[in-house]
Amino acid sequence: MSATILPERTLHYPVLLNEVINIITPQNGGTFIDCTFGQGGYSKKILEYPNTKVIAIDRDKNSLHIASDFKKKFEDRFSFHNIKFSQIKDLYLKEEIKGIIFDLGYSLNQIKDLSTGLSFDSKDELNMKMGLNDFSAKDVINKLDQKELAQIFKYFGEEKNSKLISKKIVLERQKKNLNTHDLVNIVKRAKKKYYTKTNPATKVFQALRIFVNKEISELQKSLEESAGIVSQNGIILTVSFHSLEDKICKFFFNYLSKQDKVSRYLPEKKTTKKSFNLITKKPVTPSSQELKLNPPSRSAKLRAIKKIGMYEKNMNVFSKYENLLNIENFSEKL
Ligand SMILES: C[S@@+](CC[C@H](N)C(=O)[O-])C[C@H]1O[C@@H](n2cnc3c(N)ncnc32)[C@H](O)[C@@H]1O
Repeated sequence: MSATILPERTLHYPVLLNEVINIITPQNGGTFIDCTFGQGGYSKKILEYPNTKVIAIDRDKNSLHIASDFKKKFEDRFSFHNIKFSQIKDLYLKEEIKGIIFDLGYSLNQIKDLSTGLSFDSKDELNMKMGLNDFSAKDVINKLDQKELAQIFKYFGEEKNSKLISKKIVLERQKKNLNTHDLVNIVKRAKKKYYTKTNPATKVFQALRIFVNKEISELQKSLEESAGIVSQNGIILTVSFHSLEDKICKFFFNYLSKQDKVSRYLPEKKTTKKSFNLITKKPVTPSSQELKLNPPSRSAKLRAIKKIGMYEKNMNVFSKYENLLNIENFSEKL
């Protein structure tokens, strides 16, 4: 979870848990897909209700040991798949799916594991892989050219000093292999003056993580597939932690719940009947109580939609975000 990596987050609190449960209503039973199992916070709560089933997904194989405890306890009410959520349709589901949930980003365990390089404190090799990746942050920092790095930092991290930082990286990488610690220091030196409480490398880290894990195409593909998979009256729910993720969820949910075009970039929808209703007109955010208990939840935004009609796939639905996919494709040369 969360775009910011802060030491204050030491206990696992599933973000917006009560709000998620109130929307997906496992109290009435049903099968749910937890696309981001992590430490199983949402799955556990759902399975507390009788007549529920959870099909869980996580790309991180470290979730396997938690999943095997769930399997022992909940038996055939629970299954786990170590796949990426963009592969959701490979599950060949036979049953009705009452809810599909995404708690985007990374888990506390992934930050605590310094070898993932998601923490600023890591002295290890650059990594940032969440699991089932083709390349790491080390490849990105060492092999992409300066302009490509600048675009990644600018568009995936909204980093204002993207050019300067990428120039410094290219200069420094000629002298030595850069590790996580070196990258943090390069960004600190490049920015010189920074007045924020968060680490100055936060945006660069976010950008690299999004790039290494192909988070843009992962989210777009899985949302599209979910719209087809979820049953009538079923719910798709997302909890996002950075503006790029949230923009994509908001755009797609608005698209599905509006009869008219939602943007001038979009081709006309073929159907006139809408397929989904918006449940959250505005995003749900953590209560002051939750913020006190779990400060990093502050950037969380929950959005949800309910299926009310047939969904017709539109290959061009995300054409507005083509630029982001083009940047993601820099990875082809790695
Ligand atoms: C914020 S954590 C989820 C925490 C979980 N809700 C809980 O209560 O324990 C996000 C999880 O999603 C997983 N994840 C992120 N992107 C993924 C993807 N594209 N496919 C599958 N899993 C993904 C990460 O590995 C991480 O374990």
